[in-house]
This record gives sequence, structure tokens and C-alpha cells, in this order.
Amino acid sequence: MTARIIDGTALAKGLRAELALDVRRLTALGRRPGLAAVLVGDDPASQSYVRSKGRACEEAGMLSRTVLLPATTPEVELLALIDQLNVDPEIHGILVQLPLPRQIDTERVLLRVSPMKDVDGFHPINVGRLVLGDPKAFRPATPWGIIQMLLREGIETKGAHAVVLGRSTIVGRPLANLLMQDAPGGNATVTVCHSKTRDLPGVTRTADILIAAIGRPEFVTREMVKPGAVVLDVGINRVDDPSKPKGYRLTGDVAFGPVSEVASAITPVPGGVGPMTIAMVLKNTIQAAEMLG
Ligand code: GUN
Repeated sequence: MTARIIDGTALAKGLRAELALDVRRLTALGRRPGLAAVLVGDDPASQSYVRSKGRACEEAGMLSRTVLLPATTPEVELLALIDQLNVDPEIHGILVQLPLPRQIDTERVLLRVSPMKDVDGFHPINVGRLVLGDPKAFRPATPWGIIQMLLREGIETKGAHAVVLGRSTIVGRPLANLLMQDAPGGNATVTVCHSKTRDLPGVTRTADILIAAIGRPEFVTREMVKPGAVVLDVGINRVDDPSKPKGYRLTGDVAFGPVSEVASAITPVPGGVGPMTIAMVLKNTIQAAEMLG
């Protein structure tokens, strides 16, 4: 079998065109959605994510504000900035790019973002709402993008065995919750695997839908995948490659070539889950603008 390649770039483009219509409607009501992205430090991957989000906002007609702070920024300064953004009427969504430098307590920062503007869905109020299945929850962008991808590709989750590799708070845990909810894109039987899982290949081979989110290049091999399974790759890993102009290439958590010979559908890296994530940040900001009124 040769897997169908799921084109995340094309899916996200369609989604962003839909979102641009929502932005037009809200702007006409005097409520143009606005997203503030805060980046502390100069991590190149984080810079690239923040730039992409800003560009996507502007293309959709939204207000985009990017605040770049030096890596040495004291925690009190970041908290004061969040306080300002929390009451800024032009800003509906606030995104603090992670990871933060060591001198800053990430939990304190995430708690400071108003739950009404927490478009990352990282505030404990939104985490709780998501677990409860409350539609008012902001759903973290990567897992929510994966659910949208499954829905839009017509991949049936109801009754399927979905195996999530990785238990991070940004991807694995919220994704497992969304997949098990009684809602479109949910109703799966969900298993979450992590570094202590016994006989990991034995578990992953039972997956109808396998989602890799562990940050280890090409960890998922052909032998770990059931023939006909759907494989979604969340990993974006930089691996050294002297043959490339930048000296590195991006690779996912899945050995794409061999796995695409057994899977029925697979996402590439780049161009798979990543573009959907960005689109969902915009969708959440529009949701915030609708809710803030
Ligand atoms: N770092 C890695 N993924 C994310 C994300 O989804 N949101 C934020 N704010 N930081 C991240």
C-alpha cells in the first residue's frame, strides 16, 4: 500500500479563507479580531513560529501585534505586559511563546493571561473546560488542528483505536481528551503512550490512527504501524544535514518513506500538521473576539 499524503498546507489555506470571512463580518461590527504574540529571547524555531502566526493574522485581515523581549527580561516585566494586554480592547487573543527563559516561572505567566484571551488554551481554567467538554474552552491549537484535519479528510474517529505517542501538556494530553469526547472528530478509543510504556511497538501496531508527538526524529518505524493505519506526525525536528544550504533539514517523528508504504494516509513534515496549528490560533482568536463582544 502507498499512503495518501494529507496536504496540511492546502487544508489550512481553505480554513484560513473561511476565517477571513469571519474576520470581515466582525470587523464590520467594529470588532476586528486582534492577536498579540509575545516572544522572550531569540530561539530561532520560536521566532519562526511567531513570524508565521503574525503573517497569517495579517493575511486573514486580523490585527497582529508582536512583542519581542530580550532573553534577560525579568518575570515582573513580562507579567506587567500581560496585565496591559489583558485590558487592551484591541487585543482578543494573547499568546506567550514557549519555552520561556529560566528566570521566568512559566506557570505564573500562563495563570496571568486572562482565560478569556487565552487562545493557546494553556490556562488551567481552559484546560479544565476542555476536559469537561465545555464548548467555551479554548482548545490548544495543535490538537484542535489535528481534529479538524481528521474531520476535513473524512477520517472516521468514532470507534477507532487512536494511539497518541507523547503526553505533553501542549499536544498529547489535550489531543487524547479531544479524541475521546462525544463530538465530531471524537468518540475514539484512546491510548496514550510515553517513555515508560511497556512494549511500545506492540501498542502502536494496534492503532487505527497513530499520532506521534514526542520530538524524536523518525522514531516511528514501519514495524510500529499496522497496515492501513492513518499516521499523523506532529514532530518538527532539526537534524544536521551538510548537503542543505542551512546545514540542517526538518524531519518529523515518523520515518516518512518506509511508513508511507504501509499506512493508508500520512502527513508530511513540513506541510502537514504545522500549517493547521497556525490556522487554529487564528480560529481561537476569532472565537475570543466573538465571546468578548
Ligand atoms: N511552543 C510550542 N508550541 C507552542 C504553542 O502551541 N503555543 C505557544 N505559545 N508556544 C508553543
